Amino acid sequence: PNGFFITNAGANNVRDGGGQAADMIVINVGQDSYRAFTSRCTHEGCTVASFSAGRILCPCHGSEFDSTGRNVAGPAPRPLTEFATTYAAATRTITVRRA
Ligand code: FES
Repeated sequence: PNGFFITNAGANNVRDGGGQAADMIVINVGQDSYRAFTSRCTHEGCTVASFSAGRILCPCHGSEFDSTGRNVAGPAPRPLTEFATTYAAATRTITVRRA
């Protein structure tokens, strides 16, 4: 499970933990299982760029977050803010609840 996509949720009034508008990432963590987070790195605010080998990677200074959003390497001081998701298999739709 290495699926990753980024969506322009900032235009939909999504806010990160600091109250700033933020885009959102959605990762696939198993069959029909997804998690969603703000895309803003908690270090200096770069947009995280990929999800590989179970880690969400920030391209700017090498911070890594695990599949629960927890900061596990690099200078990021806090986890990524997570949004609750539900998945409807019949329509293959992921619904993300706004913070
Ligand atoms: Fe992400 Fe610095 S902004 S590691």
